[in-house]
Amino acid sequence: MITWPRTYYTSHKHFDREREKIFENSWMCVARSSELPKPGSFLRVQVGGESVLLVRNRDGELRAHINLCRHRGVVLCSEDSGQFNTSIRCPYHGWTFDLNGQLVAAPFMNELPPETKERHLYSALVSEWLGYVWVNLDSNAAPLHEQLAPMLHNRFGDVDVPARYGCDELEVAKRETYEVEANWKILYENFCECYHCPTMHPEVCNILPEWRTGYGTVSGPTGPKIEGSKINEKAQGFSLSGRATSTPLPGVPEYDHRTFHGLLLWPNVHLMFIPDHVMCMRFEPVGPTKTRVIVDWLFHPTAISEPGFDPSDAAALVDVTARQDFEACEGVQAGAESAYFEEFHTPHESMITDFRRWVCAQLGDGIETSHVATPAEADALPA
Ligand code: FES
Ligand SMILES: [Fe+2]
Repeated sequence: MITWPRTYYTSHKHFDREREKIFENSWMCVARSSELPKPGSFLRVQVGGESVLLVRNRDGELRAHINLCRHRGVVLCSEDSGQFNTSIRCPYHGWTFDLNGQLVAAPFMNELPPETKERHLYSALVSEWLGYVWVNLDSNAAPLHEQLAPMLHNRFGDVDVPARYGCDELEVAKRETYEVEANWKILYENFCECYHCPTMHPEVCNILPEWRTGYGTVSGPTGPKIEGSKINEKAQGFSLSGRATSTPLPGVPEYDHRTFHGLLLWPNVHLMFIPDHVMCMRFEPVGPTKTRVIVDWLFHPTAISEPGFDPSDAAALVDVTARQDFEACEGVQAGAESAYFEEFHTPHESMITDFRRWVCAQLGDGIETSHVATPAEADALPA
């Protein structure tokens, strides 16, 4: 167990530190690739403290530009999404950048100093995985898979479970956005444990009875559960009514036709792999006490095109459960305002320690996993 001072959940100063060391220094999942469907498509996203302009170039490749003009630093694009033609033109003095961020024209270019021509847009690293766009503001960062590999291995061993669900091909059948008045770590820590499931989640426990034991799929009594959780024999699928929404996805093996796999990928993704769909929950830390949560329900295009296709029953189960979780998270956030705020972890909550160990490593806090910080030590940590 690692304990943190309550300021880790409340202070702007600590949030700024996390922004610098985590959100601007890690691969962050920021968008669905299909939101940038063709050359010239753009999408404005927030990564840590930076506005980033995702753009698909003429070759169909993604670019992530810092959304600032290299002339006088005005924000280049204030629209959330849209379509550029062949270039990005600054609204202030008209400098023009191609879709790769190269400065290609400026008024009176011949009269400007030669170094003007080198003032291209700053860019971030960009990668795609599971049909999502991932951005890293640290230009020296290791590739995305190096960040994800330890978490995937810890969860699924050597088996590439996510690959079976063909996430690249799936389409967003439904998206929901939630504004939660809680620190992003409180949300993450909630999804690290299922000790609260028997108390708070009767609907999901009906479908996944094993969750009544206080262990879900991300954490079992002896660590992560590679085999996942089984859907109740009386149910056909993972939905509020217990009905399946569609037939299982084409790559899912028969032995997983009644299996639910959960996956947490720090710092901002929570995935559920269900026989007929995938749910992706992304966290956008907005401030020390506020987090935006974007949930996508991904289905196969063939299923979506079937007459009568309706994802609402499947979505309702996650929606009702997530709202229960978010209400509890807001309660923890309110608790963190109290001078008496402290924690005690049961064995069911051991994954919180794994998460905190990763956060501490990113922050450079250097806390040993087995060490329980005393209140005095916790207070001495940088806030
Ligand atoms: S600030 Fe963009 S062209 Fe001047
Ligand atoms: Fe929950």
